[in-house]
Amino acid sequence: MQALLQTLKPGSPEWVLARSLDPARLPSHIGVIMDGNGRWANSRSLPRAAGHKAGVEPVRMTVETCARLNVHSLTLYAFSVENWKRPRTEVETLWRLLRYYLRKEVAHLMQNNIRLRAIGRLDELSSEIRKELDAAIATTAGNSGLILNLAINYGGRTEIVDAVNRIIDEARRAGRLDDLKVDEDSLGNHLYTAGQPEPDLLIRTSGEMRISNFLLWQIAYAELYVTETYWPDFNRIALLEALKAYQKRDRRFGGIRQAPVPPAADEPVLEAVSLPTR
Ligand code: FPP
Repeated sequence: MQALLQTLKPGSPEWVLARSLDPARLPSHIGVIMDGNGRWANSRSLPRAAGHKAGVEPVRMTVETCARLNVHSLTLYAFSVENWKRPRTEVETLWRLLRYYLRKEVAHLMQNNIRLRAIGRLDELSSEIRKELDAAIATTAGNSGLILNLAINYGGRTEIVDAVNRIIDEARRAGRLDDLKVDEDSLGNHLYTAGQPEPDLLIRTSGEMRISNFLLWQIAYAELYVTETYWPDFNRIALLEALKAYQKRDRRFGGIRQAPVPPAADEPVLEAVSLPTR
């Protein structure tokens, strides 16, 4: 938290908001569905590509802020397995922007001690993208701070299918296929994000109430936060507001609150309620 506060102007709205956060209760892993680039551009009579281009700055801000807040992992949904359905020119714009980001931002990732990773069906990417991606991943591999997962050619269902196939392949190679059993731990350990905490907070911009095939397995207990703000307008205040909202949530993971509120005087306690015997 101190690392973030040092970069903010004391007394500014960002500083006040950041100071109001409890550093002990920040999410370990944040997932972001960066949505609304197209609508942002449309609302300004600009081509959709301009919206994607304007989406690079919030990526930079979100990455840097999460690094300064000591968040363990940040996963950004950059390109889904379904995004190939978009017009070819838009798909090319997205790949150009990704290459631009990788080339330009590696120095920034290094300065902020960030480890870059990529999740998705990476073997289906062009060799140029693969090369840039592998180089950036290798350059930042020795860093020990935030893990930045870029979800590229990613789908939550394909991730689960890939995990199951890897489990089957490993069992076949070990000659254990006949008595293979899959459980939650073994499946989780074969996901692209294996070894990282599950997202505590999933942010989606632009107001859509959908998961869109993002981290389907991992978000089982994530807190969902949807803001009407389009991704290109998602600034540090918007991110800090999401964190503030997250800290107000009562996370029960299917259980009950740690310190239950005592029943009101006129509310029957459990022992006083007659329960059916069967
Ligand atoms: C969704 O908005 C956004 C995407 C499919 C791409 C996200 C890409 C960026 C933010 C560009 C930079 C990213 C990196 C990692 C360098 P949309 O096009 O679906 O918007 P719409 O729903 O308003 O049409």
